Amino acid sequence: MKCLVVFLYFGAFLPCFYLECKAFSYDGFSQHVQYSGRKSENILFIDKFHHHRSKRNADSNAPSCKVNNCTYVKVNHKYYVSHTYISGQRFWRNIEENPKSKVHPVLSQTFLKKSTLKLSFIFPYYGHYLDSVVLTTGGFLYMDVYNTSLLTDVQYLAPLMAYFSPDHHPDSKVITLDDGLQLTVQWSKVYLRNRTHDGHFTFQCTLHKNGTIWFAYKEIPVNVSSIPDVRYHPVRVGISDAFVRYYRHLGRPGIIYRVFHIYSQVNITKNSVVNGSAVVFHPQTSCVNATSCTECMKRKQTTEFDCQWCPQTKRCSDKTDRNRAEWDLNGCSQNAVNQPSDERCVAGTEQEKQQQKSKGGLGAKTPKGGVGAGAIVGICIVLLLIIGMAAWCVYAYRNPTTKSGLFLIDATRRPRELFHRSADGASKAAPSDVKPQVL
Ligand SMILES: *[C@@H]1O[C@H](CO)[C@@H](O)[C@H](O)[C@H]1NC(C)=O
Ligand SMILES: *[C@@H]1O[C@H](CO)[C@@H](O)[C@H](O)[C@H]1NC(C)=O
Ligand SMILES: *[C@@H]1O[C@H](CO)[C@@H](O)[C@H](O)[C@H]1NC(C)=O
Ligand SMILES: *[C@@H]1O[C@H](CO)[C@@H](O)[C@H](O)[C@H]1NC(C)=O
Ligand SMILES: *[C@@H]1O[C@H](CO)[C@@H](O)[C@H](O)[C@H]1NC(C)=O
Ligand SMILES: *[C@@H]1O[C@H](CO)[C@@H](O)[C@H](O)[C@H]1NC(C)=O
Ligand SMILES: *[C@@H]1O[C@H](CO)[C@@H](O)[C@H](O)[C@H]1NC(C)=O
Ligand SMILES: *[C@@H]1O[C@H](CO)[C@@H](O)[C@H](O)[C@H]1NC(C)=O
Repeated sequence: MKCLVVFLYFGAFLPCFYLECKAFSYDGFSQHVQYSGRKSENILFIDKFHHHRSKRNADSNAPSCKVNNCTYVKVNHKYYVSHTYISGQRFWRNIEENPKSKVHPVLSQTFLKKSTLKLSFIFPYYGHYLDSVVLTTGGFLYMDVYNTSLLTDVQYLAPLMAYFSPDHHPDSKVITLDDGLQLTVQWSKVYLRNRTHDGHFTFQCTLHKNGTIWFAYKEIPVNVSSIPDVRYHPVRVGISDAFVRYYRHLGRPGIIYRVFHIYSQVNITKNSVVNGSAVVFHPQTSCVNATSCTECMKRKQTTEFDCQWCPQTKRCSDKTDRNRAEWDLNGCSQNAVNQPSDERCVAGTEQEKQQQKSKGGLGAKTPKGGVGAGAIVGICIVLLLIIGMAAWCVYAYRNPTTKSGLFLIDATRRPRELFHRSADGASKAAPSDVKPQVL
């Protein structure tokens, strides 16, 4: 009802608005009305998505089972290389008997629900470091933080996304095990909503600290390609990522379009989801986690990514990653470093080297933003100089017949000349092995 009213209100202006009026979505419509800094102002986010890359980057090169060895298929999807094993039991982790496993009671007794899970480690997803994921009842994880109705379309990690309804049977469960090195999420004995006659499904995904992802299937009672897409809850197997950009609605400041640009989507053939099969995703080194210009340019040369370095934001990017909005905001495209020989990169290299040197010398104690390592080195040099001068003075005072001694006497008599001769005097006098000479 609420949905309908809003639709009538904005419908005339927003042809794409129907997306928001899904028959159902995870956690419902109210999530979309968020409050901005000023309390009185409602901001309505209108979410849309589109595929950022042309389809030629899609996995159209996925080998068909007829011409290839069907028990094992390897495909390069650019950001990940997937390996599909028809007999992949070794990727199944037996977490049900582990006492550290957690059954999520809320997710296990409902449907179309999500719940955020904090990770005990940092998980790199498409090179981006995540400290939490969103569990859902629908056989997939949502890998970003937005409260959007597009969970099933944009940034998902889906061993088997379908309209599951764990409330159907008391044995249906969502179980997780996070042991510090990997997180396993298992959908145990779950039934499809309104298709309970199909039987129950048991499958899991494991996210490893090093970025590797496993999908493993134990009980798949039916041919997955025969499960129908329910409107707005598609059946998907694979992973996907998107970046977000905001557009204001001209004339209506309360409305912000939030557009998810899907830059990578990996579809795994549904026929390979059967009892005992597994899919393994190996992350490929891309631009996004390079932390210096040199590293970034090295990636450009050694990987298939066209990496560029933005000096303003200090990020490496092929312009399709989650930092894209920041990249645009800082005008990075106009200023990006493309060549390793670029002087900004070379200058950066020297700075980096110095930073590394001083870091090595002083340990990691130097606090960020406090007294810099450079300042400490400077102070040390000044101290050494002062000590050297003092030593020289003592030496010259005690040995008035030496060059230094004579210089000191000279200097005290004719201070003006001090500056003409000090360099010469200081450099020669400091070492203790200077032989006393009579002039
Ligand atoms: C993946 O499959 C969906 C349909 O389920 C399709 O819309 C999408 O274009 C496919 N993506 C790629 C990259 O092939
Ligand atoms: C198919 O791949 C599997 C696993 O790599 C291997 O054991 C098997 O011999 C291969 N079969 C054929 C016909 O190539
Ligand atoms: C999403 O909604 C939850 C609960 O309403 C809220 O705590 C959280 O801050 C929201 N997240 C974002 C990114 O707005
Ligand atoms: C599923 O079944 C329930 C009643 O059991 C019905 O209300 C609902 O509309 C059905 N949903 C779909 C998507 O068919
Ligand atoms: C990442 O961890 C998994 C599981 O421990 C392992 O199989 C894989 O070889 C590792 N990958 C790399 C690149 O270290
Ligand atoms: C998978 O195994 C279950 C029993 O565990 C069986 O009932 C079902 O027919 C099997 N499915 C396929 C596609 O082999
Ligand atoms: C699943 O269904 C598809 C088409 O509906 C068929 O081509 C395929 O052979 C079936 N697979 C199995 C394992 O039954
Ligand atoms: C960046 O990510 C790749 C792939 O996950 C990984 O092999 C590499 O070690 C990472 N580099 C850094 C500096 O974290």
